[in-house]
Amino acid sequence: MKLVLAFLACFFTLTISQPKANKIDAQVQALLKKMTLEEKIGQMTQVDYTAITNHYDDIVTYSLGSILWGGSSEIPDITAKGWAATYDMLQSFSQKTKLKVPLIFGVDAVHGHNNVDGAVIFPHNVALGATRSPQIVERIGGITAAEMRATGIQWDFAPCVAVSRNERWGRTYESFGEDPELVKQLGAAFVKGMQGTDLSNPASALACVKHFLGDGGTTNGKDQGNTEVDEATLRAVHLPGYVEAIKAGAMSMMPSYSSWNGVKMHGNKYLLTDVLKKELGFNGFLVSDWAAIDQLDTNYRSAIEKSVNAGLDMAMIPNGHGQKNSYIDFITMLKDLVKKKKVPMSRIDDAVKRILTVKLSMNLAGNLYANKELLIQVGSPEHRNVAREAVRQSLVLLKNNNILPLSKTGIKIHVAGKWADSIGAQCGGWTIGWQGISGNAISGGTTIMQAIKNTAGKGTKIGYSVDGSGADSSDIGIVVAAEQPYAEMVGDRTDLSLSNDDQAVINTMKAKGIPVVVILLSGRPMIINSSLEKADAFVAAWLPGTEGQGVADVLFGDFNFTGKLPHSWPKNMQQVPINIGDKVYDPLFPYGFGLTYKEQAK
Ligand code: GLC
Repeated sequence: MKLVLAFLACFFTLTISQPKANKIDAQVQALLKKMTLEEKIGQMTQVDYTAITNHYDDIVTYSLGSILWGGSSEIPDITAKGWAATYDMLQSFSQKTKLKVPLIFGVDAVHGHNNVDGAVIFPHNVALGATRSPQIVERIGGITAAEMRATGIQWDFAPCVAVSRNERWGRTYESFGEDPELVKQLGAAFVKGMQGTDLSNPASALACVKHFLGDGGTTNGKDQGNTEVDEATLRAVHLPGYVEAIKAGAMSMMPSYSSWNGVKMHGNKYLLTDVLKKELGFNGFLVSDWAAIDQLDTNYRSAIEKSVNAGLDMAMIPNGHGQKNSYIDFITMLKDLVKKKKVPMSRIDDAVKRILTVKLSMNLAGNLYANKELLIQVGSPEHRNVAREAVRQSLVLLKNNNILPLSKTGIKIHVAGKWADSIGAQCGGWTIGWQGISGNAISGGTTIMQAIKNTAGKGTKIGYSVDGSGADSSDIGIVVAAEQPYAEMVGDRTDLSLSNDDQAVINTMKAKGIPVVVILLSGRPMIINSSLEKADAFVAAWLPGTEGQGVADVLFGDFNFTGKLPHSWPKNMQQVPINIGDKVYDPLFPYGFGLTYKEQAK
């Protein structure tokens, strides 16, 4: 009986979705017939908010297809209400165009709706990799989509399915880890959570899988560098995340700034069109990275020709009036390229068909403005509890001389380190600003320091100092060490040692003769040997986001450690890159390592 029911369910699903697909296709064809070349090219143009400010009428003049907020393109009022109001104002211009095709708005909500003050900020992907949980990642995708749609924004430049193979790379924390299998599972889970089962659901959002292809495999981990591998390796290591994302229904993707054997991805027709669109059957659309087509040629017109002919469908353009390589230049030059038959009309029609198919599948016109009723859920306790659960599951216990879990009562704890009370350090890059924030410049979160105070019980005293002074006669010292927030190439490092300040605090605390717990906030494994020797317990907490309470939940034993390393942990920089499967493999801690309290009981 179950088999029959399953068959019927599948049959009805297929038949219902088939007519819907046919209906959308007919609508797309009808729209295309009505569109001028200018209107078609307008749909292929995505403009950053900072470039359109004071020129909102250009949305009508050029029938623009999309607006984004890049990492640092903030608006004056960054509350959820402020974002919703700005979104509504901009969307209203699309309704003054002849065809009233809605704008689709894109944002980097890469660990929650991270441009919004008061949103819940989830752990970055490296931490989610340590959870090994597609379930929690899917829930995070769904919550992120809901908080985005509360502000109107329908499109997320996430998930990043980079397979980070060299931790020198400043974007290691945006990757789920070094293993293609783990990355493909969690990337697909995020797509499913974000897009749901029906793209027209007003609480779902469009995912954008990035950055195609091989962004995490560049030589020396150089951001936007060159991935020098043969095709078999490129496919085996870096492609699975995209294949799985297509199966999960991904309908937009972003090429990488990086190159494959010297050829820039944004101009690589073989990979963008022959492999991704034809061989793998990707029928969504490709949006460029930020001004990425400019890197193809010093002559902007040639750059446009190369990228659009390679298979790019929409250009992300940060420059406006009076600037070089502006969105007006893009529109004018692409129109001329078509007129001169340098770019075939069929390529334009294919790109616009892909874009319109997504917009109609999402029923953007039916959910044109922000749903104000959803605002109440932004940063809600329910959402924060999911983030707190993700934090707990992401923590990796590297060492424990039986001093964890901590007693809640009757002990004297001394906390040290300048990052112990910093939401900014917990969140890392892509938080309010592109490069992150310092201090507690985002409301609603809990720092690790606050979490320890929240959890401590009767008779427990908690001291604090930046440098560890005053820790004498404490029963336990806790040092929070951290990388300062960074994003993209700003985070590229040749040396991953802990900062001298953090090492000094650990030494000071150790010299007090008390047990020392080190909690490391970082976007990647770091070189920790000497600090590890001095520590009696060492926890890799990654970049946990706003819900620091999850750290205390495990430190004090309300929950056990379950996290497993998503990266091999190197002994020294000479070992990097070091990845599971290497012929010579002798890390400090292997991929998948993680202790639990049970193991400590022995
Ligand atoms: C950035 C990043 C990309 C992001 C885009 C828009 O440079 O490479 O991941 O989605 O620009 O902010």
